[in-house]
Amino acid sequence: MKKINIAVDGLSSCGKSTLAKDLAKKIGYTYIDSGAMYRAVALYALRSGWVTEDDIDKEALKQHIPEIRITFRTNEQGQQETYLNGENVEKEIRSLEVGNAASRISTLDFVRREMVRQQQEMGKEKGVVMDGRDIGTVVFPDAELKIFLTASPETRALRRFNELKEKGEEITYEEVLANIKERDERDSNRSQSPVRKADDAIELDNSNLTVEEQLQWAIDMFNKKM
Ligand code: C5P
Repeated sequence: MKKINIAVDGLSSCGKSTLAKDLAKKIGYTYIDSGAMYRAVALYALRSGWVTEDDIDKEALKQHIPEIRITFRTNEQGQQETYLNGENVEKEIRSLEVGNAASRISTLDFVRREMVRQQQEMGKEKGVVMDGRDIGTVVFPDAELKIFLTASPETRALRRFNELKEKGEEITYEEVLANIKERDERDSNRSQSPVRKADDAIELDNSNLTVEEQLQWAIDMFNKKM
């Protein structure tokens, strides 16, 4: 059967990974979380001391980036987990600290070049649903289906706040909202691959949709392409 690549882009915490994961499962495709790759690089850089509150040691990161290998494996519960040079870092990369560092290192052109190269390699056989910021514009400009998700900052902050609270992080809703706005600003205005809807992407505002409703919408879009 014909296989296609599907790009799911949008700003942080707009439900991209939920939609991309659900859709991949439903249609039997491979799900790839491109943000997890930037997070894994950020974790490596944080551990090495190359990212501090007000500085990034770009030279060190550039020199060592070829040593960073990111892979994905599915655990016994059927969930995908991220590995950094063979170590399971799935839990560690989800913290706010790593997310912020990821947002900062992802503005560097040499980081993006390496991630895009690895992502294109993963998608060359098709049958991939990849979520991120630049999948429809840079990674798979030829993807047969491109979805651009949006939701208001307040809706996204509430979802993210609930997720973090469940994980036991001590944080207020206001802090999460401020963090989302700061990341939106950086992800939208950076010179390297800012978040932008591809001209041929279909936009969906999921502020008032349930997870099931947005999945059904995506399945309908997929079926139209097949
Ligand atoms: O999606 P997630 O929040 O896990 O991504 C972490 C960070 O990685 C984002 O804030 C964004 O700056 C960056 N990213 C990116 N390009 C992608 C995916 C993520 O720049 N394709």
